[in-house]
Amino acid sequence: MHLMHICQLRLGKKCRSCGRRSKILGLFCCLICACAVLLIYMWQQNSKREIFNPYEPRILLWWTDTNEPLFYRNIYCGYYTCTVTNDRLRLKEAKVILFDGISFDVLDMPLPRYAFQLWALLYDRSPANRTILFFSELLRYFNYTSTFSRYSDFPLTLHTLSNVADLVNPLFLRRSEDKSEISVLFMENNCNTMSSRENYVRELMSYVPVYSCGSCLRNRDATRFRHEIDVVRFMSIYRFTLVLEDATCSDYISSRYWQALTAGSVPIYYGSPTIRDWQPHNRSALYISDFHSVKDLADLIEQLSENETAYNEYLRHKLNSKVPITNQRLLDALVWQRDLDIPGIRLQFEKQLCMAINSDGKPKSKVANSTQFDCPLKQPQPATLKNSTENEIYWKHRFSLDRCAARILDQLWQRNAPYTKANFEYQLAELAGWGACQSYFRK
Ligand SMILES: *[C@@H]1O[C@H](CO)[C@@H](O)[C@H](O)[C@H]1NC(C)=O
Ligand SMILES: *[C@@H]1O[C@H](CO)[C@@H](O)[C@H](O)[C@H]1NC(C)=O
Ligand SMILES: *[C@@H]1O[C@H](CO)[C@@H](O)[C@H](O)[C@H]1NC(C)=O
Ligand SMILES: *[C@@H]1O[C@H](CO)[C@@H](O)[C@H](O)[C@H]1NC(C)=O
Ligand SMILES: *[C@@H]1O[C@H](CO)[C@@H](O)[C@H](O)[C@H]1NC(C)=O
Ligand SMILES: *[C@@H]1O[C@H](CO)[C@@H](O)[C@H](O)[C@H]1NC(C)=O
Repeated sequence: MHLMHICQLRLGKKCRSCGRRSKILGLFCCLICACAVLLIYMWQQNSKREIFNPYEPRILLWWTDTNEPLFYRNIYCGYYTCTVTNDRLRLKEAKVILFDGISFDVLDMPLPRYAFQLWALLYDRSPANRTILFFSELLRYFNYTSTFSRYSDFPLTLHTLSNVADLVNPLFLRRSEDKSEISVLFMENNCNTMSSRENYVRELMSYVPVYSCGSCLRNRDATRFRHEIDVVRFMSIYRFTLVLEDATCSDYISSRYWQALTAGSVPIYYGSPTIRDWQPHNRSALYISDFHSVKDLADLIEQLSENETAYNEYLRHKLNSKVPITNQRLLDALVWQRDLDIPGIRLQFEKQLCMAINSDGKPKSKVANSTQFDCPLKQPQPATLKNSTENEIYWKHRFSLDRCAARILDQLWQRNAPYTKANFEYQLAELAGWGACQSYFRK
């Protein structure tokens, strides 16, 4: 506008001295000026929008350990390209910040966060390994998630099932006479679980013999395995395998469950309350929560060990070659997983994100919530003999620390400014009556 004004003034002077002809020339000049201004305006608008240009690759930035070697790579999804990197210098341009739930450092967050920036959380381990995510205050800072939950944007519920063909392959089945005298196998190395699984197993051991070769409640020599297939072969000698998850979360299923099914060893399962939604058929396992007492379970184990007909009903996925799997949800999920066919969880996550952010023109509002990491803070315990152990105390303490940390992080992230360990500790001190928090960094 300013430019046009000057132009008109100058022309006006000229016009007075040179008459009509130059008036037309003046008009013409003004038109050109207007065009120029319009062009400048458009160019400016364009440069402002450059970050969001749909024809430019969007940047997916992994917020990982700064010691990780720098990388750049492009991924192609349909018509679009995304650039994946861990180069923190690109933070201001990054459309999505990707976090590995197991390793991201709460004292090293990409703040301030720009309004257009999406945070995406990948979590492919046992929920017990990052209990701070049990707190929904933090989950809601993420827009996309890929977790064990079916409600996450890119579910990993079945990623612990490594080989679908082997699940129904009768190859691993042993004849009755080749099975172990001891029916039940337990092979866990970690006794320190939220469900205090060892309490339950110890109780069961008082009714039926259990072969235990892991370091938790070991009563046999340790057995070492190189490959998962060797674990499965070993399991196949036992009629039953105890599978008690280390954390009880909806849709969290560890690989043990699938290994036992693959081996043709009936899982005795405790863990995800939604496990039946994913079992191959409706006699796939014995579910600990179905039994009134440990004794009831022990009785059934004995019955089934002596009655081949009754026992074989649990092996439909091995014995019924026509319809080994009756669960339609499981079948659909397996087909979906097969069609996805991208090697590696990280790559899969990147590609899915790239598609999601490019698919619809207008970004919908999208915020994660606790359905995507559904782990009750009060973790249920299967054992009936309440034996307060060191482990229980450990988890109680751990949860109280995480509760404090989640609360403080919520405040700091909301403030949307960088913070240091000192800021964090200052916040801690502010929280009166939260004495347990003081030792957060000493855990
Ligand atoms: C996960 O937790 C288990 C048991 O607490 C531990 O043995 C394992 O090393 C942890 N893994 C990671 C990656 O933190
Ligand atoms: C198992 O599933 C079949 C159909 O697939 C059904 O007819 C049967 O009633 C189910 N049994 C139980 C115990 O739920
Ligand atoms: C074995 O189980 C089958 C089916 O569950 C049952 O019909 C049969 O009576 C049982 N046999 C014995 C000896 O208990
Ligand atoms: C992403 O999540 C943040 C934090 O919850 C939220 O403020 C923002 O609106 C979300 N972005 C989109 C596009 O939904
Ligand atoms: C959680 O998010 C899902 C969509 O991702 C939504 O359908 C659901 O209602 C939300 N639940 C709660 C409790 O906010
Ligand atoms: C309770 O646990 C301790 C070790 O943690 C064990 O020595 C003791 O036998 C247990 N008691 C019962 C009744 O199981």
